[in-house]
Amino acid sequence: MFIPVIMAGGSGTRLWPLSRSAFPKQFLSLDTASELTMLQATIERLGGLESEEPIIISNEDHRFIVAEQMRRVGKKSRIILEPAGRNTAPAIALASMLAAENGEDPILLVLAADHFVKNKRAFQEAIKHALVQASNGKLVTFGIVPTAPEIGYGYIHRGMAIDEEAYEVEAFVEKPKREVAEQYLASEQYYWNSGCFMFKASTYLKELKAHAPDIFSQCTKALNGLNFDSDFVRVDEDEFLKCPDDSIDYAVMEHTKHAVVVPMDAGWSDVGSWSALWDVSDKDEDGNVHHGDAILEDTKGCYIYAPNKLVAAVGLKDIVVIETKDAVLVADKSKVQEVKRIVECLKADS
Ligand code: GDD
Ligand code: MG
Repeated sequence: MFIPVIMAGGSGTRLWPLSRSAFPKQFLSLDTASELTMLQATIERLGGLESEEPIIISNEDHRFIVAEQMRRVGKKSRIILEPAGRNTAPAIALASMLAAENGEDPILLVLAADHFVKNKRAFQEAIKHALVQASNGKLVTFGIVPTAPEIGYGYIHRGMAIDEEAYEVEAFVEKPKREVAEQYLASEQYYWNSGCFMFKASTYLKELKAHAPDIFSQCTKALNGLNFDSDFVRVDEDEFLKCPDDSIDYAVMEHTKHAVVVPMDAGWSDVGSWSALWDVSDKDEDGNVHHGDAILEDTKGCYIYAPNKLVAAVGLKDIVVIETKDAVLVADKSKVQEVKRIVECLKADS
């Protein structure tokens, strides 16, 4: 038994113009094969496993979106509201403290609300293996065999085998430099960190207290005198805003001696950009993905999202076209990481 903890506080700027600060990607349906939003799919993916009511952590501004999306899939959940994001280490601390409120010490499965997983069965198998390690007081990471020297991921150096399904973690390195990532890839001893974790609430809080005591104490203060408002849990704004901004990866995983890795081969993908989304989507015979009507002549490898308009394209190769009510993005598929710069420009102008 475990409690799913869903981190849904990101802003997803690289999927502009669809993903906006008022409606970031975790609340969108981006899978051509499913109507579910990424948040809903994250919960549905756990179907069949024995789990308790999920805890969702998101920004205060998105509380009604979260509540409505959970209602639509018939899921009761507790929703922790952050007045502003302080990154994942504090978010997970709040969830751990809430989960342990009655002196209990549940196992938590921490998941990002904005990932794709193709093979639900393999994903659930990995979770079952992780449960064994988490109940032994380990911080479990889920390792993905890397296919490129990506610098947006954490890297896990695999150590000794604990059993057939889990290894000790020799080292955890968050977002290494390109040259370092290339060495890791070549060594074949590293996994990408999937960004999902499993541990007992007490294990995480103990490690957080040891390695990031300021985050621990600010989160404790922020939850002092908990505020319940139906299913929403509000924190003390002043105290929470004083919390240092850091991710679980830098604050805890790079320092702890109790990490293990369970390899996961489940068609996982961090849908970080339009090209990543193209990678994981079902394509037509010319390698095009399109949502909405499109007439494509001599067009290959494109990603077209235009639910409201007919898109006609002639002679395009590896281009992304995204149409929304008030903005259209046209980009080279190999340059889509730069879309976040457009968002920065827009912010500077407003
Ligand atoms: N509630 C809440 N509050 N959620 C947050 C916050 C916050 O302040 N910040 C981020 N999140 C959510 C995001 O929405 C996302 O679902 C998840 O936490 C991870 O945050 P990202 O900002 O997307 O992290 P990342 O992609 O740079 O890196 C992490 O994920 C990689 C795999 O996708 C790390 O764990 C890496 O090591 C890992 O490889
Ligand atoms: Mg991410």
